[in-house]
Amino acid sequence: MALPLVLSISIFLIFLSYKLYHRLTAKLPPGPWPWPVIGNLFDITPVRFRCFAEWAHVYGPIFSFYLGSQLNVVVNNAELAKEVLKDNDQNLANRFRTKPLENVSKNGMDLIWADYGPHYVKVRKLCNLELFTPKRLEALSPIREDEVTAMVENIFKDCTKPCNVSKTLMLRNYLGSVAFNNITRLTFGKRFMNSEGKIDEQGEELKAIVSNGLKIGGKPNLGEFVPWLRWVFKDDNEALEAQDRRLEKFTRIIMEEHTIARKKTGETKHHFVDALLTLQKQYDLIDDTVIGLLWDMITAGMDTVAITVEWAMAELVKNPRVQQKVQEELDRVIGSNRIVNESDISKLSYLQYVVKESLRLHPPTPLMLPHMASNNVKVGGYNIPKGSIVHVNVWSLGRDPKIWKDPLQFWPERFIIEDVDMKGHDYRFLPFGAGRRICPGMNLAINLVTSMLAHLLHQFTWSLPPGVKLEDVDMLESPGTVTYMQTSLQVVPNPRLPLHLYTHISQ
Ligand code: HEM
Repeated sequence: MALPLVLSISIFLIFLSYKLYHRLTAKLPPGPWPWPVIGNLFDITPVRFRCFAEWAHVYGPIFSFYLGSQLNVVVNNAELAKEVLKDNDQNLANRFRTKPLENVSKNGMDLIWADYGPHYVKVRKLCNLELFTPKRLEALSPIREDEVTAMVENIFKDCTKPCNVSKTLMLRNYLGSVAFNNITRLTFGKRFMNSEGKIDEQGEELKAIVSNGLKIGGKPNLGEFVPWLRWVFKDDNEALEAQDRRLEKFTRIIMEEHTIARKKTGETKHHFVDALLTLQKQYDLIDDTVIGLLWDMITAGMDTVAITVEWAMAELVKNPRVQQKVQEELDRVIGSNRIVNESDISKLSYLQYVVKESLRLHPPTPLMLPHMASNNVKVGGYNIPKGSIVHVNVWSLGRDPKIWKDPLQFWPERFIIEDVDMKGHDYRFLPFGAGRRICPGMNLAINLVTSMLAHLLHQFTWSLPPGVKLEDVDMLESPGTVTYMQTSLQVVPNPRLPLHLYTHISQ
């Protein structure tokens, strides 16, 4: 009876001594003690960036932990973020791919999950020089205006329906439709939703592929982090292959539709599927890369936009002073005889500060996407061995009291005092990341988010449902790589412009 117990304790002590020895001699960042086999897997609380911010108070601004036997490092302040994203940018620009990600990206043949190397450089160049150019973004602006005015019309209809006594709406539904339609039209050149909000069969298939992908990718699998346990946690290869076939079939049908249309009309449209198919030879892209890139845009560009606007609106209903100040600016610049359009945005400086303030407090990807070390490097004086996963906690940076005055207060005026850059040049504020892996969709996202907010605030005044107090709004996040509000925002819109300005302007 006693022997197995003594044996287990001895093994455990040997393991701890080994880890202690390893951490001290390898000069790894400090961190919580890992358990044998699982590491710190069960120490991490579901909302990971909050957990990491707490750990930073215990272990310091750079710490490490283990998922199984996989070393992870988290940095939590601006100086260390600069070391990761500038000084060691190239050596920390790989990605960690789980089996489902390996599958969906065909071993990193897309952009998001590609390791840094010749393939990545080629595809990134294509994104920068062809897909996300100011010219193409401008050419696609009618799609954005179309979707945003459709949203306004739907909100107007729903809040003025006689049967909607409380006038309360769940804003996320409307924001989600704009984000979904905008990204599918931009990527696949198709709107899968009719004017009544009904999604057609092909659109339902797209949604099912996205949610099935999230389901497969979200399944905990210790085998990812403990190579010798892979035989216990067998990958569901059949499910992965089925998902693959489904995704490929769906995308190839759309690619074929566009090829036929181009041959018929001789016209190349601005959306990404046409752009990629016409550039495929010039950039020497295999079909897997074209398919991977199209899906990268769907996964990276859909939720992030809707999430950003929902958080901003939550702050604006909680802060009526700020909401009123935005509306005064809109009334001054636009007036009340027309609706706003994207070309007005440059004149709406206070609204732009509101967008920044919201992204400071609520970055939709609070840990960016994980980077991976392709070489041994030093960060903060500690060794980061090749193969480590490195996270930058941009949520913590945005709330660092050493940097921001009253960091938890929603106060856009801070950007009048100092207009801190959010496009990767200032390491205090990194909602889109920085360095070579910075978000390529940044300008598109800022345009769409600002335009959505401009329309929502120019055309409606927003308040909380009757009986709900400002302090009742739940400002906590749901777990996940992207952070939706834990409780979706319920709000009451009150139209504030002449009635004829609430009709959808179809483009
Ligand atoms: C408010 C909205 C958005 C935010 C806050 C955001 C933020 C980010 C962040 C933090 C990263 C990771 C950077 C890194 O790993 O260092 C990223 C990557 C990426 N984003 Fe965005 N994003 C947004 C919208 C979009 C949109 C609309 C698109 C495309 C239509 C897009 C496409 C991508 C792609 C393709 C990557 C991968 C880049 C790479 O690995 O090289 N994002 N984004």
